[in-house]
Amino acid sequence: MILVTGGAGYIASHTCIELLQAGYEVLAIDNLSNASKESLQRVQKITGKKLTFIKGDIRNEQLMAETFQQYNIAAVIHFAGLKAVGESCAMPLEYYDNNINSTLVLTQAMQAANCKKLVFSSSATVYGNPEKLPLTEDMPLSATNPYGRSKLIIEEILRDLPIADAIKQTNPPWSVALLRYFNPVGAHQSGLIGEDPSDTPNNLMPFITQTAIGRREKLAIFGDDYDTVDGTGVRDYIHVVDLALGHVKAVEKLLSAGGIEGVQAYNLGTGTGISVLEMLNAFAKTNKVKVPYEIVPRRAGDIAACYADVSRAKKELNWQATRQLEDMVKDSWHWQSKNPKGYKN
Ligand code: NAD
Ligand code: UD1
Repeated sequence: MILVTGGAGYIASHTCIELLQAGYEVLAIDNLSNASKESLQRVQKITGKKLTFIKGDIRNEQLMAETFQQYNIAAVIHFAGLKAVGESCAMPLEYYDNNINSTLVLTQAMQAANCKKLVFSSSATVYGNPEKLPLTEDMPLSATNPYGRSKLIIEEILRDLPIADAIKQTNPPWSVALLRYFNPVGAHQSGLIGEDPSDTPNNLMPFITQTAIGRREKLAIFGDDYDTVDGTGVRDYIHVVDLALGHVKAVEKLLSAGGIEGVQAYNLGTGTGISVLEMLNAFAKTNKVKVPYEIVPRRAGDIAACYADVSRAKKELNWQATRQLEDMVKDSWHWQSKNPKGYKN
């Protein structure tokens, strides 16, 4: 059985589908602070398979200890956490508590149960303001806000675990995949699950889809004077189903005979940079909808461009993204137009 923390969330719910379809049993835990249980009902509808759900907070030590006693957990995918950059600047302690404490409680429970195979949701944000592109996993790491710092600190904490195993000669040793996501977009092709931000979206794609559906008047494009193809910011957008499949590959690798030695970081992106205007034009053209927009000044803290070198994930996890920009914009719109109010329909 695979334990999926934050299992009802956007990326996790898509990953639950791919895990179930690959034949894994899934145990999802979520405190539903930023998700609806409905997402997991729909995961079961899509796959025709059952998963086990626990509503709870993974910072609860007793709950985590009991969970590992009750279920035979082979590996954990740890998605649970808070993720809004702006909010993290206003509420750093909540972010450090939720993101770092949850990881400490989880890994302690894992260690006590001798379950030491972990996939962690990291982010391209750990590369800070990149000096060189494309980004490879060994490039310098830094953080520019408490959210990013929480990811960086967790990566460092996890790196200490196999070192301790070597000192104490414990067996089995920790085996950890740090998956650094670039910019997840899109939704399952059924249109039944997708991204459903509870507040005003921070990220580009939900802002585009909510504008297209009429929930917002217009999209503000943050700057058209960057040194990029058309002056707007460039990012490596990845379809969430490709991202979900990357997690299945990481789990397969962790459970395979060779496994993953110690802690290894993997970029999960497509390797291609897309500008805001390119994304907007692809969305409008593919879906035949208008998205009003205006150019406004740059957003504080934004970088001009960011995209991944994805060769390590290809070589070591046997994974690469296959979905194209058209799939990303089509599936994002399919989800939003079928569910104008998200899961509240
Ligand atoms: P999400 O908010 O949809 O999912 C996170 C889930 O964790 C939510 O369902 C929330 O209710 C749950 N949760 C939060 N704290 C919890 C706790 N203490 N105990 C139990 N459940 C808890 O976000 P997402 O976009 O699916 O992101 C998943 C992970 O991927 C996060 O760790 C995020 O930082 C990381 N990530 C996301 C992106 C992105 O753009 N979406 C990019 C890079 C990394
Ligand atoms: C954001 C986070 C980053 C996180 C990443 C993936 C910030 C500062 N950074 O980065 O930590 O890892 O998401 O979740 O929030 N844009 C607009 N108008 C909008 C929204 C976005 O023009 O309304 C532009 C941005 O300037 C950027 C691009 O669209 O050029 C993508 O923005 P966004 O989706 O917020 O992702 P990131 O900036 O990469």
